[in-house]
Amino acid sequence: MNIVVTGGAGFIGSNFLNLLVPRHPEHRFINADKLTYAAHLGSLESIADRPNYALERTDIADAQAVRELFQKHKPQLVVHFAAESHVDRSIHAPEAFITTNITGTFNLLQAFRELPQGHGVLFHHVSTDEVYGSLGETGLFTETTPYDPSSPYSASKASSDHLVRAYHRTYGLPTKITNCSNNYGPYQFPEKLVPLMILNAAEGKPLPVYGRGVNIRDWLYVEDHCEAIWAVIHKGRIGETYNVGGLSERRNLDVVQQICALVAEETGQPLAQVQGLIRFVEDRPGHDLRYAIDPSKVMRECDFRPRENFESGLRKTVRWFLENKTWVEQVRSGEYRKWIEKNYSARA
Ligand code: NAD
Ligand code: DAU
Repeated sequence: MNIVVTGGAGFIGSNFLNLLVPRHPEHRFINADKLTYAAHLGSLESIADRPNYALERTDIADAQAVRELFQKHKPQLVVHFAAESHVDRSIHAPEAFITTNITGTFNLLQAFRELPQGHGVLFHHVSTDEVYGSLGETGLFTETTPYDPSSPYSASKASSDHLVRAYHRTYGLPTKITNCSNNYGPYQFPEKLVPLMILNAAEGKPLPVYGRGVNIRDWLYVEDHCEAIWAVIHKGRIGETYNVGGLSERRNLDVVQQICALVAEETGQPLAQVQGLIRFVEDRPGHDLRYAIDPSKVMRECDFRPRENFESGLRKTVRWFLENKTWVEQVRSGEYRKWIEKNYSARA
């Protein structure tokens, strides 16, 4: 089977390809990625030369390029990861989020409809729990929770989810959607909370916690998310949505404290010195208080169970970032440096 994976050079897409390309030599995986600041081809080194893997540099916002890609490879399956994914960036510069996340998804759906008979068997859309907005202190997001996005990022993802559902209802396109909670693990771009805190703690730089650090996220190790997507592709029902989460709710400040403890242990720095780097900084505008997922549907219908718990997954992640300095230096060069200087150094 030919499988087009969009955004396969980003954090989750590269973990997905690293897991599945070696496991499934009978499938051909085509990575369609624009290679934005968030992509790094070094994340795919272990599979780059495999005969069942190919990279096609593609901007999904370019309708003609998407059509040509689909006509060339005639995929049976599309797994759609490509997106602008960072909430803070969407607050400062929302346009790229509209272009990639909404228009890009629309272009993929249109090109998928045009595939010849026997192709286009499934369009799997990878989405986020942020489409549901914010929870109070209790309750869980289920698949029937009304959409109520807060940021330009989550509004653009909500729009893309609606388009996917509309193409299923109107044109009968075979689609599935997964809405997942916060991922962490290897190859995550260090603008996101977990890798940013690991690297800053290791390097003695300030640890900027938004507001009072009381916001809550539900954390899932990235490989568990990838396994959940693969399980939904094979066992989920067409036209359905599945919420994916790790049953691991944590306050941001507790996550940062836990990272401080692990970094101190791994590097031999005194814990008090690492904890002393924590700074409470200006809050994110429209900051959602709490996300928490009810994953019972994906567990029941697709036999999905996360393998990693937050403690074991976080330890693995801290070690990975401390041991992969070349990867870190490469992703931090160029565009990333400009972004970090503009948005983080002033606040901390
Ligand atoms: P990421 O920012 O690390 O990677 C995004 C990838 O998409 C990059 O390789 C980038 O080059 C590519 N891309 C961006 N614009 C493109 C375009 N116009 N055309 C083609 N490729 C383009 O993102 P991620 O964290 O890996 O997230 C992947 C998907 O999973 C996103 O759709 C995101 O909304 C969703 N998601 C992420 C999380 C999370 O915690 N990171 C949780 C739930 C859902
Ligand atoms: O819930 C799923 C979403 O998780 C995905 O859809 C997004 O693509 C992904 O980026 C992530 O969004 P968040 O906004 O939750 O992730 P981020 O790592 O940016 O922030 C996590 C929490 O930590 C959030 O409450 C904001 C806070 N934070 C973040 C940064 C970068 C800080 O306190 N300080 C920081 O420096």
